[in-house]
Amino acid sequence: MKIAVYPGSFDPMTNGHSDLISRSCHIFDRVLVAVLCNTEKAPLFTVDERIEMIRSAFDGERKVTVKAFSGLLVDFLRAEGTNIVVRGLRVVSDFEYEFQMALMNRHLDPEVETVFLTPKEELSYLSSRLVKEVHRLGGDVSGLVPPMVREALVRKLPRGASTG
Ligand code: PNS
Repeated sequence: MKIAVYPGSFDPMTNGHSDLISRSCHIFDRVLVAVLCNTEKAPLFTVDERIEMIRSAFDGERKVTVKAFSGLLVDFLRAEGTNIVVRGLRVVSDFEYEFQMALMNRHLDPEVETVFLTPKEELSYLSSRLVKEVHRLGGDVSGLVPPMVREALVRKLPRGASTG
């Protein structure tokens, strides 16, 4: 049983994230989406809201489970009985950060393997940060996030409001 952990902030989940989750389902027996809760960044959505969005997007996909995690990723992996991390690589600028994280995780636990997947080409410019910015400034984010994420953005962040 190959279990992949796909960790991230998912604040909020975008179509890029869901593309990666779907791709992971084709490779692994189970995909555990791990939503970071003790982030130093102040997330727009609570961890429960972020988890709920991912769960409802993958409702009916029995391979996908979603959990919160805090602390070191390697400790979470051990607790879940796996050593596989999936991360997305969109553009060259992602590489440095992702490479550092992969090697740090391997330093902390030599058993850990990070598998990089690339999203659909047309989603490679997408990020949660840009989605929030575009929505806040009145741009249309449909097509970039699942419909219920767009609705959650409208509720949480009325257009024209400041994110601080
Ligand atoms: O979506 P993000 O914000 O790029 O995800 C980053 C994440 C959650 C994968 C990363 O911050 C993480 O793994 N945090 C857990 C803390 C940790 O294990 N740090 C040391 C290894 S980099």
